[in-house]
Amino acid sequence: MSRLIVISNRVQAPTGSHSGAQGGLAVALAAALREYRGIWFGWSGEQTDEFTGQISLQRNDGVTTATVDLEEQDIEEYYNGYANRTLWPLFHYRIDLAEYERGFAGGYQRVNERFAETVLPLIEPDDVVWIQDYHMIPLAAELRKRDCRNRIGFFLHIPWPPRRLLSTLPEAEELVRTLFAYDLIGFHTEEWLQSFTDYATQELGATLDEAGRLLRLGDREVQIMACPIGIDADEFIQAARSPTARLTFRQMRDSAVGRAMIVGVDRLDYSKGLEERFLGYERFLLEHPEERKEVFLLQIAPPSRGTVESYQKIRADLEGLAGRINGAYADLDWVPIRYVNQGYARDVLAGVYRAAKIGLVTPLRDGMNLVAKEYVAAQDPEDPGVLILSRFAGAAAQMPSALLVNPYSAEDMSDAIMQALRMRREERIARWRPMMDMIEREDVLWWRQQFTHALLGDRAVELLQDSDQ
Ligand code: G6P
Repeated sequence: MSRLIVISNRVQAPTGSHSGAQGGLAVALAAALREYRGIWFGWSGEQTDEFTGQISLQRNDGVTTATVDLEEQDIEEYYNGYANRTLWPLFHYRIDLAEYERGFAGGYQRVNERFAETVLPLIEPDDVVWIQDYHMIPLAAELRKRDCRNRIGFFLHIPWPPRRLLSTLPEAEELVRTLFAYDLIGFHTEEWLQSFTDYATQELGATLDEAGRLLRLGDREVQIMACPIGIDADEFIQAARSPTARLTFRQMRDSAVGRAMIVGVDRLDYSKGLEERFLGYERFLLEHPEERKEVFLLQIAPPSRGTVESYQKIRADLEGLAGRINGAYADLDWVPIRYVNQGYARDVLAGVYRAAKIGLVTPLRDGMNLVAKEYVAAQDPEDPGVLILSRFAGAAAQMPSALLVNPYSAEDMSDAIMQALRMRREERIARWRPMMDMIEREDVLWWRQQFTHALLGDRAVELLQDSDQ
């Protein structure tokens, strides 16, 4: 009997609730696991004194999760180190923030070996394995070394950096070689895919077939695909109609007292361009004094990866910047930026999005960005808000009717805010409709079907039939 084995750094057991803070990816993977009767393996998020490889198996809402604890040095070198201080900044084009330390690289390799050792006994000969994201790039190679012959796919949820940037990583070559242990590699966009093939062909001498979908290196052949992740559109639309969303919508409209709300929702991360966003908004206030009390920016930014210094710095910098802008422009009855450092459940966010005239999604670089899609999905079809979206988010390739901006240009952002505020209802609807159609068509179910079907070929259908029995 074949099953799907999903492996990722974070494992989120399903909560069975539609209001939780669980991300769209977790919901999608849980659905795939139910369908293909699988196991979701990864780090528990917990620390232990000494790594033992002891697996904790749990079953929630029809999904089996298998997690292991990591020891302090693993967490430091693998998660805080190589994943978050080396690969994350580098893959988001921030080589100025990337830290290259052999200790981190060693820890990353060690933890991937430990994951391979631990998960291997759970994998049966017919199972297919789907590995997620940059934490586990070498995992398939480690599994192959241990004689694992299963089909193994990999999906990268963040950008793939241009060749010249990747070349600055001391282990770049080795890391890319390990990717040839996979059968299929997925990226969100053609741009990330092309950066990958550019490195593989130019630096490693890999060859690409005519269709540009099959890369060969030595005796290995790997299929590559661009497949943009979507949101669970039905579920999100439902969340937007829920009593909590309606209540939040009313509360936000009341507290706006007739002013246009601009909303941003992002993990507190330097890749999200929050400082640049605040500066763009400040520019708008400066250039349009008559608009000052007519708008406000609500920025929701739950802190993330707080043990890493660059995250502590962005947090402190943003607090300073929000304070400075508010100090310079606020009046007795108006504060230009409401800056909130906590996360909210999806149904609350849906209400917030619907109450906002503008969704401001301006990352400096982003693999996809699902907030852009959630903002659009939460809108009133008769009177939708305007999405201002960074050209450098993967989502921009699918959403050309958003107001696309260069997030590095404060002037560009200021102009876009003005254009959005003045936009007539007919134009707002005309821009919103195609985005909404895409979101409903290319949802998260579509995404994972595209990937699993490419990975499994005809067996995808066979597996489904098995699971019905
Ligand atoms: C991004 C990554 C995910 C990661 C998430 C949260 O979306 O692509 O793999 O899980 O950020 O980051 P964290 O470090 O808290 O898991």
